[in-house]
Amino acid sequence: MVSGIGIPDWLVATVPLWKAVHIIALSIWCGGLIVLPMMLALHDPAVSPGDYRIIRHSTHLTYTMVVTPAAVVAVIAGTWLIFLRQVFEPWLFAKLALVAALMALHATIGHVIVRISEAPGRRRPPSPYWPIGGVLACATGILVLVLAKPDLAGLSFPHWLVTPQGRQLPFVPSP
Ligand code: HEM
Repeated sequence: MVSGIGIPDWLVATVPLWKAVHIIALSIWCGGLIVLPMMLALHDPAVSPGDYRIIRHSTHLTYTMVVTPAAVVAVIAGTWLIFLRQVFEPWLFAKLALVAALMALHATIGHVIVRISEAPGRRRPPSPYWPIGGVLACATGILVLVLAKPDLAGLSFPHWLVTPQGRQLPFVPSP
């Protein structure tokens, strides 16, 4: 059987599974983005080289093996949910803007990890309060949007953003 929106029923029935995957992955992602700045704050150039190596390895491994894969899984599951649930609503677009801000924080934290590992003993880690505050603000905003699903239909967007412009991409066609 195919639902009224052209998606097979058996695929629509997997929505709870994708939601579970989405929520587990985003919990690990957001939790990691809160823990990593705290771990980075332990990168005191004054600690012994042995301790410094342990902290550096653990922040690097947490970022590359846990937090980034969780972000990828959360985004893939969330993208699936957009089509399975057919939610093309203004609150979703507002949520995606906050997700983009969360990704920018994710990239910034990764950048700090690389900078600290490239200049051991010299780099002082930034204060953890700014990134943690940013992650908490984004995650809270996203949760409010996704759980309350406010009616943002009254928001007006610029004309160029909602109307096809009929322009070509700036690529030279191959001969
Ligand atoms: C690119 C990233 C993301 C996409 C495309 C996405 C998309 C979606 C979609 C389409 C749904 C289903 C909504 C519904 O059934 O009405 C959903 C559910 C949910 N999302 Fe996301 N999401 C993303 C990231 C996040 C993040 C970062 C958070 C939290 C910090 C989050 C929290 C949730 C929650 C809690 C639900 C369950 C809501 C419910 O079932 O009522 N999502 N997401």
